[in-house]
Formats: sequence, C-alpha cells, structure tokens
Amino acid sequence: MQGLIRTAGLAILLASSGAAFAQAQPATPGASAPAQPAAPAPAAEPSVPAPAAAAVTQAAGTQAAGTQAAGTQAAADAQAAHAQAVPAAPAPRFGPPAAVASAPIPKAEDTNAERGRTQPGNNAPFWRGVRESGERPGYSSLPGAEQGVLIQPFIQYPGSRFTNAGDAWRQVRNGWIVPWGGAFVLFGVAMLAALFLAKGPLGHSQNREGVRRIERFTYFERAAHWLNAIAFCVLAVSGLVMAFGKFLLLPLIGHTLFGWLTYVLKTAHNFFGPLFAITLVVVIVVFIRDNFPQQGDLRWLKGVPRMLKGQEEPSHRFNAGEKVLFWFGTLLFGVIATASGLVMDKVVPGMDYLRSDMQVAHMVHSIAALLMVFTMSLHIYLGTVGVRGAYRAMRDGEVSDEWAREHHALWYRDIQEGRIPARRTREPHPARPATQP
Ligand code: HEM
Repeated sequence: MQGLIRTAGLAILLASSGAAFAQAQPATPGASAPAQPAAPAPAAEPSVPAPAAAAVTQAAGTQAAGTQAAGTQAAADAQAAHAQAVPAAPAPRFGPPAAVASAPIPKAEDTNAERGRTQPGNNAPFWRGVRESGERPGYSSLPGAEQGVLIQPFIQYPGSRFTNAGDAWRQVRNGWIVPWGGAFVLFGVAMLAALFLAKGPLGHSQNREGVRRIERFTYFERAAHWLNAIAFCVLAVSGLVMAFGKFLLLPLIGHTLFGWLTYVLKTAHNFFGPLFAITLVVVIVVFIRDNFPQQGDLRWLKGVPRMLKGQEEPSHRFNAGEKVLFWFGTLLFGVIATASGLVMDKVVPGMDYLRSDMQVAHMVHSIAALLMVFTMSLHIYLGTVGVRGAYRAMRDGEVSDEWAREHHALWYRDIQEGRIPARRTREPHPARPATQP
C-alpha cells in the first residue's frame, strides 16, 4: 500500500513539474513555437513514457491522485494514437520528459501526418505530393478527357502571371474582372444618375393614350422584347450578386441569407440563360432590318449635344444611338455572353468541357456580360425615365403623331407619304350588325 501511494505521488510530481517546465521554457528559435499550441502540448505529449504512464494510472487508485490520473490517462490515450500514426521512436531512458521537449523542426520529406503535428494546419506535403504526382504512377478517379490531370498545365492569361491555368484564371477574375468590372458598372450607373439630375427626361410629347394612331411595335415584337427583357433582368441581377454580392450584400444580410439567396439566384441564372438565348435570337431577327445604317445617321450622332438641349435631329424608325446599342449591346455582347453562357451550362454538343474551356468561357462571359449590362443600362434608362413617352411605345405598341414627328421625323414622313404602313397588325373585324327579325 505504501508503495502504491509513493508511486502515485511520483506521478503527480512528474506531471506538475513537466507542466511548470513547459511554461517556463522559452520558444526554441526555428521550432515553429507560435504554430504549436504551447499550453495544451503537455496533454498531447505524455509526461512519462507510455508504459510508465499505464503503470501510474493503475497505481493511482486513490482519491487524492484521481484527477491527475485522469489527465495522465488522456495523455496515455494521445500517446497510443500517436504510436499508431507514426512508428514510435524508442523511448529515451534519460533526459527530460517528452512533454518538455520542443516540437520537432518541420522537414521537407515529412508526411502530411507528421507535418500536422509540427505545424498544425500546414498541409504542404499533401500538395507537394499532388504536384509531383505526374512523376510517379498513381491513381486518379477523374472521369473524361482530363483523366489523371490533377494540376493544369502552366499558362499566362492576359492580366495573370505565368502559372497553372486554374491559378491564372483566378488571378484574372479576382484581380481584374471583379474590381474593374464592378467599377465600370458603377461608373455607368453614376453617369446615368448625373444625366437625369442634370437634364431630366428628354423630349416634349407625352405620347398619351387617345391620340395615338401609329403602330410602332406589333404584339409579336413586344412579346419577344419583354420576354427577353425579363430574362435579361433576372440574369443581370443574379450575375451581379454572384460577382459582387460577397462585398456588397454579405456584410449587410449575413452568411445564412446570402448563402440561400446566391443559391436561388445561381439556379435561376442557369435556367433563364436558355430563355434569354431563344428570345435574343427572335429580337435580333425581328429588329435587325431597321437597324442597318441609313442616310442621316451620322447627322443624328453629331446632333447629340443639341438633343440634350431639347432639339433632336431627324431619324428613321430607329435613331443612330439605338442602332449603336443594337449592334454592340444586343448583338455583339449579347451573342458572346449567351454563347459562352451556354458553354458553361454544358448544353453545346460535341465539347469535352475541359477545365480550360470553362475558365476561358467564364472570362469571356463575364466581360461580355458586364459590357452588356453597361450598354443595356443606357438602353433601359432611355426606354423608361430618359425619354418622355418611349416606355408607353413599347408597352402598348402605339405612338401619337406628335411623338413620332418629334423623335423619328424621317420615319413619320415615310408613313405620311404612304411608304410605310401606319399599322401592320390587322384591325379586328367590326362587329356584325344585328340581323333584323
Ligand atoms: C427592363 C429592360 C428594358 C426596357 C425597359 C426596355 C425598353 C425599351 C423601349 C421603351 C423600347 C422602344 C424604343 C423606341 O420606341 O424607339 C425598346 C426597344 C428595343 N429594345 Fe428594349 N428594353 C429593355 C431591355 C432590352 C433588352 C435586354 C434587349 C436586348 C438584349 C432589348 C432590345 C431592344 C431592341 C432591339 C429594341 C428596338 C430598338 C432597337 O433596335 O434599337 N431591350 N426597349
């Protein structure tokens, strides 16, 4: 009995002196002391070699040594786990207890498990293994054309360093597209706000109901336009949240709501893309004819400063400004953004969909989409608050003589002279007179 109590006392002494020593011990230079949680170390590393700890635990059956014995048991468990992970070095017979020995210095040939102990959280050996995987036979479960390619070949995209393609893409996205694209869109919105504050709505005619007799857009043209516009708005909002929401929305609404919102919007983006693609083709086919350059377009463009003072140059059905927006905003940027979006939706047949395909498609898509948002913001501005009566033209399809003369004088002249019909949609048949009995 006396022997047992003496052994337990020895265990307490050893454990407490080990902890005190560990606290007093200064960090060893180069031994990554800050990364090593200094205080918990004695718990992970037993203060006595494992067999001795087991003996102490058995011996410490008394109340007095109970708490200490529990700690020692935890230490013994940790030691056992350690012994399973790495073949244990033979326990030294002399020298300080293991707990007070400084952490081993990380070595280049460490396994990931070893590095996890010398530098918790550092998994460099894992990634070194991945990088060197091309030099040694291994196993990869990646299906398709990229089987076995863990790291893409090195490349330099415009705006990136020469590095592996995944990293090069990330550098372009985070270093250029997101900050500069965001600034570009904000600049556009600020310019439109300034224009509205400075000039207010342009034009005089209100294009009110009751005095309209000229059909500007047919049912079909309006249906295609509005379906396309709705799809565009969903795509623009969801795309902007995906690109910039992390900086603008996340701090305001928090992670949970932002996570759900982005998930819903990303799914909407994937499904509205094809709807936008189909309606975009219809819009292009329907409006292309009247957007070809005509005589008077250059004069109209030169007259923009005078237009801001309230005097508009004559134009055909669409003025030169609308034509520029059509060829660039709708056709060029629209087609590029749509085609690259369909690649990312993986609905283009005959493609392998390599990571590099997706990265290039993503960069092209983001740039074209941001340019489109920029140009379409101007279109939407002019089609709503920027020009009096314009929105009603696309909503109801009709304009008054006064509105047509003020904004599209050459088109109005052609209608007056009978070269263009004032209405293309056939009027509904007049009600048949009731037959007399
Ligand atoms: C909420 C969004 C939109 C609004 C409020 C809007 C408004 C308008 C209005 C009022 C017009 C008639 C202008 C006139 O009478 O001269 C118009 C025409 C037109 N819009 Fe939109 N629009 C929107 C989105 C879009 C989108 C996303 C596209 C294509 C990508 C588009 C393509 C066109 C085209 C092609 C025309 C015919 C004029 C031209 O060819 O330049 N619109 N829009």
